[in-house]
Amino acid sequence: MPHPLEQLRDNALREIGDAPDEKTLEAVRVRYLGKSGSISVWGEKMKTLSQEERPVVGKLLNETRNAVADAIEQHAEKLRSQKESEALASIDVSLPGTPSERGSLHPLTQILDRAIAIFRQMGFALADGPDIETEWHCFDALNTPPDHPARNEQDTFYLPDGRLLRTHTSTVQIRTMEAAPPPIRVIAPGAAYRRDEIDATHSAQFHQIEGLYVDENVSIADLKGALEFFFRELLGPDTAVRFRPHYFPFTEPSFETDVQSKALKGGQQWIEVAGSGMVHPGVFEEVNKARGDDAYNPKKWTGYAFGLGMDRLAMILFDIPDIRLFAQNDLRFLRQFA
Ligand code: PHE
Repeated sequence: MPHPLEQLRDNALREIGDAPDEKTLEAVRVRYLGKSGSISVWGEKMKTLSQEERPVVGKLLNETRNAVADAIEQHAEKLRSQKESEALASIDVSLPGTPSERGSLHPLTQILDRAIAIFRQMGFALADGPDIETEWHCFDALNTPPDHPARNEQDTFYLPDGRLLRTHTSTVQIRTMEAAPPPIRVIAPGAAYRRDEIDATHSAQFHQIEGLYVDENVSIADLKGALEFFFRELLGPDTAVRFRPHYFPFTEPSFETDVQSKALKGGQQWIEVAGSGMVHPGVFEEVNKARGDDAYNPKKWTGYAFGLGMDRLAMILFDIPDIRLFAQNDLRFLRQFA
């Protein structure tokens, strides 16, 4: 006949195995192993047993307690992992995720990045200068006399202290030459500001890429070669570049530079995209005065400079009808360039 403890153990193991949840399992544990549980009370009963019986029953009691405690632990673990896989099964992995908004580069940034990459390929380094400039950097050093119309209050944003928002990026030509002796080969992308009447093709802020190359024996052929290469890389191999005589105070000779390309209005028209020319010796002399040396001796050094109008180029290239769209942050516009 089995000992009553063995009977208790078998009952306990069966109830444990049948427990459908953690709450029921805990009730079973209390009933058998709790303070006055039916296995625990055998601890008291031991005292009433004889010397011979006590070690035998003591051993049995320990084994029973351990067997029941282990079974409870194992069943609890089984219930936990069951619960987990049920929870996982209720997740529909085929549901679409929560979409996160993806930004994109502004069309002007895109074309600037492309242009910069092409000039870097030609060995141009990046130069930079402040948007708020001195009159000297914007005009005097660039051989622009005090009575030049560009210096008019009507055309330029002046600050109360006499500084101004640069009207072109040619200021960076001066800053670069002040900072380092020749040879120089830099481009300077950046914003420029003019007090224009704002309409579909005029904005108070626009973007240029300035270029400056100073070395021995730099010629107009070098200028033409560099801009032709640039525009063919940017717009395609069919692109033609034309130089029309023009006037800028800081270059001599000076040119308006036009391109014709299938990428721009189907190649039907010549489109003016840049000003350019050979650096005026007077500019070198002003720089020398500011440097206090003869680093840019105009008898030894020559150079070319250009200023590309990037807004207009982007407008034609991407078929953008109104320059104001660049600054309005309208997502319906910007998303077209994502
Ligand atoms: N700074 C001139 C402009 O903004 C462009 C230019 C740059 C012309 C360099 C010649 C040389 O119109």
